[in-house]
Amino acid sequence: MPTIKVRINNREFEHEVEPRLLLVSYIRERARLKGTHVGCDTGHCGACTVFFRGRPIKSCMLLAVCADGAEITTIEGLAGEDLHPVQEAFRAHFAVQCGYCTPGMIISSCWLLQNNAEPNEAEIRKAIAGNLCMCTGYQQIVDAVAHAAKQMRGA
Ligand code: FES
Ligand code: FES
Repeated sequence: MPTIKVRINNREFEHEVEPRLLLVSYIRERARLKGTHVGCDTGHCGACTVFFRGRPIKSCMLLAVCADGAEITTIEGLAGEDLHPVQEAFRAHFAVQCGYCTPGMIISSCWLLQNNAEPNEAEIRKAIAGNLCMCTGYQQIVDAVAHAAKQMRGA
């Protein structure tokens, strides 16, 4: 079996992996980081979204062997001593109900705010279009991202 080395949330991991193992399964089962969720395993729901080499990807769409040498950030890696402003905004705006979609939503939202400090509602909705939420109706999520943007601009 091939051995991979990855850096996740600034920690080094090294494991032998089955060539068919999905990256999301590696993150959850081998690295034991359960914040990244599996909703569909087919690339539709976005629950498995992580930063991979600095960009968001659906980690059920990549084999773990393809991550050898990569830098990955999961939801557990976003917060410092305090919650990340996007996490805090989701909490404050009740943008979390069951929480299943939340890690992926937050990663996608962070990517948006890295690239657009003042997104309008349409831009926010477009940025999270690959993340499905069965609970919130999306409005609280949109409000949370807009609020986080404001906070991050220091407004
Ligand atoms: Fe990856 Fe649904 S679990 S997109
Ligand atoms: Fe339940 Fe989004 S909060 S799926």
